[in-house]
Amino acid sequence: MPSSSADTTLLDFPSLGVRDAVGVQLLFTSLRARFIAELARAAEAHDWQLILKTWQGPGATIPVRVRGNWIQNAPEELRLALLRENEELIGFINLRLGVTQTLQEQGLTSGEMARARFATLQSIADREIQECRDEVDLGLTKIAWLGRRSGLITHITSNWLKPSPSELKRAVGQALNELKAHVEATLESRRAAIEDSAEKTALAREREDLSLPGVVRALGSRHPLRQTFEEIERIFLSLGYSVVAGPEMETPYYNFEALNIPEHHPARDNMDTFYMAAPLAESAQGKPPASPLLLRTHTSPMQVRTMEKQPPPVRIIVPGKVYRRDNPDATHGFMFQQVEGLAVDTDITFCDFKGTVEYFVREFLGPKVKTRLRPSYFPFTEPSVEVDATCVFCGGKGCNVCKQSGWIELFGAGMVDPAVYGFVNYDAKKFSGFAFGMGVERLTQLKYNINDLQLYFQNDVRFLRQFA
Ligand code: PHE
Repeated sequence: MPSSSADTTLLDFPSLGVRDAVGVQLLFTSLRARFIAELARAAEAHDWQLILKTWQGPGATIPVRVRGNWIQNAPEELRLALLRENEELIGFINLRLGVTQTLQEQGLTSGEMARARFATLQSIADREIQECRDEVDLGLTKIAWLGRRSGLITHITSNWLKPSPSELKRAVGQALNELKAHVEATLESRRAAIEDSAEKTALAREREDLSLPGVVRALGSRHPLRQTFEEIERIFLSLGYSVVAGPEMETPYYNFEALNIPEHHPARDNMDTFYMAAPLAESAQGKPPASPLLLRTHTSPMQVRTMEKQPPPVRIIVPGKVYRRDNPDATHGFMFQQVEGLAVDTDITFCDFKGTVEYFVREFLGPKVKTRLRPSYFPFTEPSVEVDATCVFCGGKGCNVCKQSGWIELFGAGMVDPAVYGFVNYDAKKFSGFAFGMGVERLTQLKYNINDLQLYFQNDVRFLRQFA
């Protein structure tokens, strides 16, 4: 394509491949760029003939072709966009040509005529600034008018003011200062308006609607077993006990031998459990040689582990999971939970034991409940007992739960068998104590009359919600 604008061939509109308003815009943008380049050349040479003939006025080459080839041949739906763009282009050309030529070159010889040009410029500035939609628009417009190197004000200063004859200088200078001040003020107030409305939109977008219903997150609750644990811990902490935890994976030594249950003792039968294929860690320290680990069948191993570690006095409770080889049904599970208790000191008597047990039962089940001890057997306590309480459901009169006996079994306990002290190097003549082991499911069941052990582990919210 030839670069001289005089013989620029503007192609027929349909062959330009423009299909929409954006295409039209691009077309005019390239035209503007061409005009700017030619304007720079003309200003350099102070030769306005060619550029005026090509660009300015209804008879100039480019406007004629834009009208004849583009606008007239345009498809109906693009005509409006073309007309608007063309009008803008004409304004753009006039403005640029106007500020690049001296006033004399444009034939403006009186102060009156000069002021009229300034008035036109001011209204153009007003329109351009009002059309700015955001900070970016505003920045570009500011550069176009006030930019130091090639802003319109700079052009006017060097092309209108400096070369103007002395009788015009005053009027031109004054009008120029006014224009500059006006443009600055208008830009600033437009900037404030844009900022203000941007802030308002942001505020509207970010505003919290306090009348909306809140997001309700379902609150969970402590599991009934957890609540029982906490209640038991509360009671024994108040008696000066501390809470300790031990491993669920145990050695046969701690689970059986050290509790006075030798290898072929019949008491092991009802404590049949799961044996691990994992190698045994603790064969050192003079303990019996390696044998498979097992899942502890009760929390009693922690009696031994604790006494091994510390001299008397001992007052501990041990909450935790225990395992037995049982098939799950309403009263059995392969896993359940216990709280072990152990108190060893000088002068601990059966009386202290009874007092502690009674205190606990009353705290846990209520002040009206009575307790009784029945003889029982555990290899690691002597004497051993079962602690019973008057039935919480019938108050001791007899019902289904207590099988008409008026009593229900709570847990096993007893005075620590002196044989156990032998395993932990306690002096059985100096020290005495008691131990107990409570089933947490059982105690929870008595408190809430739950008749199926499996309910604890099914995680059905309809069940759990009742304990919230
Ligand atoms: N460990 C016994 C069991 O699980 C309970 C118990 C603990 C009995 C402490 C006496 C003393 O059956």
